Amino acid sequence: MTPSLFSVPVTDLIPRRASWRSYADAPVDRGGQEKIRAFFRALPPPPFGSSVRVDLVDAPRGMSGLAGTYGMVKGALHFLVGAAESGPRDMEDFGFQFEQVILYATDLGLATCWIGATFRRGLFGDRIGLEENETIPAVSPVGWAAGRRTMKDRLSRWVVSSAKRKPWEELFFEGNFSRPLTREAAGAHAECLEMVRLAPSATNKQPWRIVADNGRFHLFLARSPGYATMLPGPDMQRIDMGIAMCHFWLTAREQNLPGGWAQADPGLPLPQGSEYVATWTE
Ligand SMILES: Cc1cc2nc3c(=O)[nH]c(=O)nc-3n(C[C@H](O)[C@H](O)[C@H](O)COP(=O)(O)O)c2cc1C
Repeated sequence: MTPSLFSVPVTDLIPRRASWRSYADAPVDRGGQEKIRAFFRALPPPPFGSSVRVDLVDAPRGMSGLAGTYGMVKGALHFLVGAAESGPRDMEDFGFQFEQVILYATDLGLATCWIGATFRRGLFGDRIGLEENETIPAVSPVGWAAGRRTMKDRLSRWVVSSAKRKPWEELFFEGNFSRPLTREAAGAHAECLEMVRLAPSATNKQPWRIVADNGRFHLFLARSPGYATMLPGPDMQRIDMGIAMCHFWLTAREQNLPGGWAQADPGLPLPQGSEYVATWTE
């Protein structure tokens, strides 16, 4: 049996995580901080082999407020800061690795929030000694959740309906994109798909689509119209795909379902704006 990365099943941890933008004025102790750093250092390489690193830094006073996150995050004393070397699948690999650290922090009882757009890249780049060929696709506050969410936090959750997810029939298919996949037909992999469905995504767009075909699971990115060009900076929806791959892989691993990621594009007719990413195959 593969040893778990977490103290509880990942199928408990994934539903437990929710973005949190309001933090208590209490630091994470040194031991906890070192555990997070050690967790990242021990991770195996991501599926496409890109070079990704994650560090945990202290937030100087005010960094999480207006100065660092345009006021989106309040009170955080620490941030996870990730950097990726540029490469063909750098954003997917970044999403894959960073999400594991987010889930580990969740396992430690800490609150987090993926922040890909609303942060000052220069400020965080200075904190981790960003190299010429690296970018910072995202950061996350890490800490103890404040007793209640700030108005801004509640508002941003309401704007993108953060608590909601698309139903199975809009996300998962059998053979091609016209036939929805039922849980029964997904069989042993139903939980892997359910954990993808519960994943966080930028502005909660949930761009992941999966077509099951004879024990293979083909992942596609269904781009939200206008989205790639709407926001400056890294391609958020490719990061979302990496997060989905992470959830699928972690669940399969925990449930002892053999398999791994491969390039095996089935060449299906695709809905407009969709592109092939990877295949889970035994
Ligand atoms: C790649 C990525 C980038 C994100 N960027 C931001 C951001 O810049 N600002 C923000 O407030 N939330 C950001 N989020 C958080 C999403 O809005 C949130 O994950 C989504 O609404 C689902 O809510 P949940 O995380 O509580 O499940 C981001 C999430 C992801 C996955």
